Amino acid sequence: MNNPIGFFDSGVGGTSIWKEVTTLLPYESSIYLSDSINAPYGEKPKEDILALCIKNTEFLLNQNCKLIVVACNTATTNAIQYLRDNYKVPFIGIEPAIKPAALTTKTNTIGILATKGTLNSALFEKTSSTFRKHIKIKETVGKGLVELIEKGELQSKEMNNLLEYYLQPMVTENIDALVLGCTHYPYLIPQIKKIIGNSIKIIDSGEAVARQTKAILKKNKLLNTSKQTTKHVFFINTNKKTLENLVFNTNNIQKIKIIETAF
Ligand code: DGL
Repeated sequence: MNNPIGFFDSGVGGTSIWKEVTTLLPYESSIYLSDSINAPYGEKPKEDILALCIKNTEFLLNQNCKLIVVACNTATTNAIQYLRDNYKVPFIGIEPAIKPAALTTKTNTIGILATKGTLNSALFEKTSSTFRKHIKIKETVGKGLVELIEKGELQSKEMNNLLEYYLQPMVTENIDALVLGCTHYPYLIPQIKKIIGNSIKIIDSGEAVARQTKAILKKNKLLNTSKQTTKHVFFINTNKKTLENLVFNTNNIQKIKIIETAF
């Protein structure tokens, strides 16, 4: 089936997931919705996050998407159950990868950097409480990071100061794994490494989401078997400059179109 895979995020961060999925599935076309005007979702109440997720889903369904990747931890942890209960297409979500971190830790202490909306969600509480019986989990809200990334400020002084402020206490607590619980944060990995060094493992869920997307497409007989040229369309409701910088250097992707429009 050559209908596109839909992706949405509060902004440009979900492109870190889009890159993993389109690399694993080179014959799939995609439509990506960057709701940057409403970023960050993580500081909003649950009802507002849910309303935005419904709006994004309906936009992608109007574009005939065959499956939707909720490329946002905050949206997944607050809305995925509702979306699965109310729409027919399969949804793939993303949550902080606590399990792989818990399995690798030797110091019995892991760190999680995520939004307030993710860390306060009932779904995160449910997952983390299971692991909390065996390991220490140091949670930190990365307030302000998403806004800077949306502005394209990946390396600014303000970014480095914020990262230092959030990560140094986790290093002091002796974490040996750091879970990136927000799809914007993989773009900060080089800066994060400078602060935490190489002995703390950085874990994000991008590859796992790509594998799951492939498995669910296959299970539902939705994979595109025609090997036609793929098309990737991005819709963004603010200035497209940051998005352009993040996706135009992607390998293997020939056909990318970015549309700035209100939605
Ligand atoms: N990329 C979103 C996430 O994974 C960012 C959330 C936000 O907009 O606060 O959580």
